[in-house]
Amino acid sequence: MTIAYDTCQLEARRQAIQVDIDARKPAAERNRLGQFATPHALAVDIAHYVESLIGRGHDSIRFADPSVGSGSFFSAALAVFGHKRIDSAIGVELDPAFADAARNLWATKGLEIVQDDFMRVVANGSCPPAPNVILANPPYVRHHHLDREYKERLRSLAFQMAGVEVNGLAGLYVYFLLIATAWMKNDGIAAWLIPSEFMDVNYGAALRNFLTGSVTLLRAHRFDPDDVQFGDALVSSVVLVFRKTPPAADHAVEFTFGGTLAEPHARDHIRLERLRDSRKWTAYPSHAKNDRHTVSDGKGPTLGDFFRVQRGIATGCNKFFVIDRADAKRRGLPGKYLRPILPSPRHLKTTTIDADDDGYPLIDRQLCVIDCDLPEPMVEAQYPALWEYLQTDRPPGIMDGYLIGKRNPWYKQERREPAPFLCTYMGRGSNDKQPFRFIWNRSRAIGTNLYLMLYAQNGLAAMLRRHPDRAETVHALLGRVTGHELRGEGRVYGGGLNKIEPRELARISAASFVDLWPELELNIQAQGQLFE
Ligand SMILES: C[S@@+](CC[C@H](N)C(=O)[O-])C[C@H]1O[C@@H](n2cnc3c(N)ncnc32)[C@H](O)[C@@H]1O
Repeated sequence: MTIAYDTCQLEARRQAIQVDIDARKPAAERNRLGQFATPHALAVDIAHYVESLIGRGHDSIRFADPSVGSGSFFSAALAVFGHKRIDSAIGVELDPAFADAARNLWATKGLEIVQDDFMRVVANGSCPPAPNVILANPPYVRHHHLDREYKERLRSLAFQMAGVEVNGLAGLYVYFLLIATAWMKNDGIAAWLIPSEFMDVNYGAALRNFLTGSVTLLRAHRFDPDDVQFGDALVSSVVLVFRKTPPAADHAVEFTFGGTLAEPHARDHIRLERLRDSRKWTAYPSHAKNDRHTVSDGKGPTLGDFFRVQRGIATGCNKFFVIDRADAKRRGLPGKYLRPILPSPRHLKTTTIDADDDGYPLIDRQLCVIDCDLPEPMVEAQYPALWEYLQTDRPPGIMDGYLIGKRNPWYKQERREPAPFLCTYMGRGSNDKQPFRFIWNRSRAIGTNLYLMLYAQNGLAAMLRRHPDRAETVHALLGRVTGHELRGEGRVYGGGLNKIEPRELARISAASFVDLWPELELNIQAQGQLFE
């Protein structure tokens, strides 16, 4: 295909302007507005794929991008569909710098720019005529950066227009997708580049239901971290393409992974009924190249059969409640109201922790957490040093914190016994590298909520009571859970940060435990019978 010379020139100018505006903005502001532009090659790939769906016929295209930026998608639409075929084109953009740039670049090519908040444009009823093709990379703004009132307005708009109740933890992109789809013409085609986290997390359920019930999802493509083309930037993104029409009962969605949209490395067609029952969409397509497959089908033994998994404690203010043991001693704080606690995983260099005579971890910097259940008058009367620390050293405003505000007394921590095994709650790692570390804890230290605490239960607890020496092997087996499995059960955030929640860790296969100690399986079966 030949692309008009001036379109190429305009695209080159757009890229230069994009770099220039990006460079002038502090990272925090770009984050707040979710300003990360779509690489041109990807925008063109997406437009080509959309063209393969709508055909090269003479139907005219009414294009829209609800968060147009400098116009990466409009430029791709021009290159792929051609100027003549685009009947109308609308780009909405909140940021005046981008809105002006896009207007200057593309007005002569027919792109009309509305400089406003897309949500407000829709809510006002001042939306331009409905498009039949939407190509979008909406702002990825996280829910905690959305102000409460604004979020409430978004939620009621999404409900009013799309009939979807969005979970308050969802990011701005979820509202964009729902509301823009409500605006789009029936039978129109939309392609969205959005974070893939909704595919796995509980708060993504409303969007997953929408995609399997209200529209016909045609394609979901994820990127391979090993692909050099887009580097790390898109590792945690997905391209979704759907038609605004209810799905046929036997519809199957094409899931692809790696490579390009045109030539993915792996593909699979997943029937809607299966998709509706799946809790992790990133596990598709199931292929060695997809690094997020889940091994456990939830039927064989899982870590949850052998461990009770609990998050570590949330103190509400670690820098106040967690202090150096030596400092606590110097201040004369009473030992009975101090508990050993592990440093943050960043500062924990070892995966096996031994204890000193007091049960404190034998590590460079021993820490303790203040944990006292005496009412304030008793602390004041009996433990003046502790009283003084609580009164004079506490940072201003901590009493207004949610956790501290509802605790009684406010310096009493959640109950946790030391756990013999812990798993770090977040981390990075691709391929075989475990993103989380398993720790064998032989001390009395507990962990903060940067750790998951694993307490042996059922047959494993009984076995460890009989054979305490097997704890080392248990630790080794945990260390052999593959990075693929951990990432498959956990979730990945922007920039490739992985996290895993207790319930997710509990779903990891524990087949290796039963292979080594078959009596553990008998134990699970016996329990099953007990409950039947
Ligand atoms: C992820 S960028 C994508 C830009 C462009 N579509 C692209 O693909 O390169 C998202 C854009 O949305 C804009 N934006 C943020 N909040 C918006 C809102 N409420 N309404 C319209 N645009 C918004 C940002 O300024 C940014 O330019």
